[in-house]
Amino acid sequence: MKIIIMMLGILSLSFFNVVLAEPIVIKFSHVVAPDTPKGKAAEKFKQLVEERSKGAFKVEIYPNSQLYKDREELEALQLGAVQILAPSMAKFGPLGAREFELFDLPYIFPNKETLYRTMDGEVGKRLFSKLETKGITGLAFWDNGFKHMSANKPLRKVADFNGMKMRIQSSKVLDAQMKALGAMPQVMAFSEVYTALQQGVVDGTENPLSNIYTQKMHEVQKNLTLSAHGYLGYAVITNKKFWDGLTVDQRNLLAQAMKEATVFERGIAQQENDDSLAKIREAKTTEIYTLTPAERAEWMKALLPVHKEFESVVGKESLQEVYDIAAQVAKEEAAEQKPSTNKKK
Ligand code: LMR
Repeated sequence: MKIIIMMLGILSLSFFNVVLAEPIVIKFSHVVAPDTPKGKAAEKFKQLVEERSKGAFKVEIYPNSQLYKDREELEALQLGAVQILAPSMAKFGPLGAREFELFDLPYIFPNKETLYRTMDGEVGKRLFSKLETKGITGLAFWDNGFKHMSANKPLRKVADFNGMKMRIQSSKVLDAQMKALGAMPQVMAFSEVYTALQQGVVDGTENPLSNIYTQKMHEVQKNLTLSAHGYLGYAVITNKKFWDGLTVDQRNLLAQAMKEATVFERGIAQQENDDSLAKIREAKTTEIYTLTPAERAEWMKALLPVHKEFESVVGKESLQEVYDIAAQVAKEEAAEQKPSTNKKK
């Protein structure tokens, strides 16, 4: 009898071992296609984590709003139904973190160097610290380049926007941007944009080229203006309770994989967007137009006042920091060019 009880004990112990050896599942939900910078970087993260943890973690990726739409996914993260998201910075307002909308200000980043230094410096830290009280921990910032305008008519002069219904993300800065152009902004989840454009619920939209191409928006938009008037990037975030509940070693493994996935993501973003432009061109469904310097100057004149208008929302200190970083980058670039100009002579 004793032997049977002992055997049963051993059996149940090994059963618990098996149960304990079950992987920790990380659900990573996002709204874009798998073949975008965000989609590919999520896959990279999965591959690194699963390889290095030797099965201790399983990363399940749910692209294309398969699990949740924009707003729902943030609620799901807070509730712990998913563990990682990478929403665009324009989507943090409903969480009560409008400071992220700094990144939506038109023409705020003159180049990628200014952008990276902003994300990786004090501004980025400040933004992530705002999330902690909301049960969210910030992990990284990912890039998707500059946005361009599309519609079923050419958008060249500011007057061309008059009365146009333009889809925007849930950002007050983007709302003000469209109004400053004379358009009527309409907030809409990303997953609904294609149908809304197709059915004429909205007349146009703005997005980086990789999103326009992978969502086939170019098939329902006759005109695309390469305006690069604004920026689109992502904050990769996790549920704080989940993160704090991991061991130090587990957190280190995930943080290192995220660091490498971030380098990978930033490394492919420009190329992915360039490739998308080539494919949109090939599709011949959309007339592509680049603003002339005079047209760009007119857009800037209409849009730059949005910075001042939103200074107190995005944070005066952060806004000034971006301006300072931009000035420093310009100074360094000018200094770098000097020797080569001298050499030429
Ligand atoms: C959008 O909603 O327009 C995009 O920002 C979606 C995304 O995550 O790139």
